[in-house]
Amino acid sequence: MSVEPHLTWWKNVVIYQVYPRSFADGNGDGVGDLPGLIGRLDYLKALGVSALWLSPVYPSPMCDAGYDICDYTGIDPLFGSLADLDQLVSQAHNRGLKVLMDFVPNHTSDQHPWFVESRASRDNPKRDWYIWRDQPNNWRASIDGGSAWTWDEGSQQYYLHFFLPQQPDLNWHNPQVVEAMHNVLRFWLDRGVDGFRIDVVHCVGKDPSFADDPRCLAGETMVQINDQPYSHEVLRGLRRLVDRYPGDRVLIGEVNIRSTARVAAYYGASDELHMSFNFPPLDAPWDPVVFRLCIREVERCLGEQQAWPTWALSNHDNSRIRSRYGGSRAKAHAAAVMLLSLRGTPFIFQGDELALEDTQVTAQTRVDPGGRDGSRAPLPWTAQPPHGWTGKTPWLPFPPDAAALAVQAQENANDSTLNLYRRLLRCRQDSPALRVGDWTELPSHPQLLAYRRHCEEDERIVCINFDEAEHTFALVGDWLIEVASDRHGENRPFAGIVGPLQAVLLRPTGVAHER
Ligand code: GLC
Repeated sequence: MSVEPHLTWWKNVVIYQVYPRSFADGNGDGVGDLPGLIGRLDYLKALGVSALWLSPVYPSPMCDAGYDICDYTGIDPLFGSLADLDQLVSQAHNRGLKVLMDFVPNHTSDQHPWFVESRASRDNPKRDWYIWRDQPNNWRASIDGGSAWTWDEGSQQYYLHFFLPQQPDLNWHNPQVVEAMHNVLRFWLDRGVDGFRIDVVHCVGKDPSFADDPRCLAGETMVQINDQPYSHEVLRGLRRLVDRYPGDRVLIGEVNIRSTARVAAYYGASDELHMSFNFPPLDAPWDPVVFRLCIREVERCLGEQQAWPTWALSNHDNSRIRSRYGGSRAKAHAAAVMLLSLRGTPFIFQGDELALEDTQVTAQTRVDPGGRDGSRAPLPWTAQPPHGWTGKTPWLPFPPDAAALAVQAQENANDSTLNLYRRLLRCRQDSPALRVGDWTELPSHPQLLAYRRHCEEDERIVCINFDEAEHTFALVGDWLIEVASDRHGENRPFAGIVGPLQAVLLRPTGVAHER
């Protein structure tokens, strides 16, 4: 990896989200696992990503697909063993790939020994590790949208849960909880992981007055609105801990508040998150006005405090990119050009590089109580069913067109989505402007979104046409189409026209370019 020495690695990379249960199955039980993933690391290397974030693989009753953890320092046998995890880290590192674990600090499983103890009696030493009250307030939980409080018959109090009743919230005001969770981070950092994606980190601090929230009456859940000063204190503690480790370990937070200005606060004064997810672009419809506003907002809010942005257009909780944009492959391709050319660290959710659509589930095949199965379907590796998933039928049905969209079918196809992602990632790797350069919006037709990336001598221009009609885009100087989302005109001089739903990445002609 040709990374400028003065830059931390996480500003220079593209991160790939692995949803382990759907990535690759090593033991034929129909659920993806760590050995399956290890067997496919060369695929990620060839794609051109430099880091992977692993959704949870810890022991769990799987009420929330592993986000309900009952042992923070183990591996669920469904996914393999601790030895497999060590193997993954070393095999990934051998290939120059960083590994990020998912850290879930807000809640445990109700089967976690800490909660089993906590609920055993009111005077149990772990009672205060969770949040117990005699009276509930009006707070709402996510996933099922019901009350955030569940009555515990045994100990005759309510406990708080921002998600399912099987996911009680930890009390981070208790120093023993803080210490126990710090030990969890130490455990994985000592094993060599490169950092963490932190689940709903803005939720760990709770309003100490437990006042009713009027927004809950309007149907909002606490995960969308919880934003307390104490979460920042918790984060500063986590940051101090990781900063003591060598090698630029990174904290990337899921801050699910739909306000980029609020998200920016979670970077602190460079003493909280290194990077935060920012959801407004992920929610945005296919509309240049909305994207323009989202991007300007990121540049403004994060730029002011030199906080490094992230870009994600899908993940395991949301529709896939292509499904969100009405099933259009052309739009998914144009979106890929945008995702991989904005200023910040992009995240690719597994399978978006294949233009997969959401899988359709029925009452019989549905798994997630939150209705988020669509994007979680298994990756098709081979064109021929069972698409590289030998053994038991996978835990969710394959996405539509699995044969045509399988890795094998796309690998050598010139105009495939996989090939587009590989080209884009190669260009990014070759261009400091794309990786770390500044971002300036360029004037263009209202249906276009155009911007310049620039770093010292290096320069690129990106233009995305959101319209079904072609539009002119006038530029001074001579430019070459380095990547076209539909391949039209690629490697030829740019003639000032962007085709219907086309996105182009342009470089000045005359720049020496070796492949
Ligand atoms: C995050 C995860 C989601 C999970 C929730 C509770 O939003 O991405 O999958 O259900 O947190 O842990």
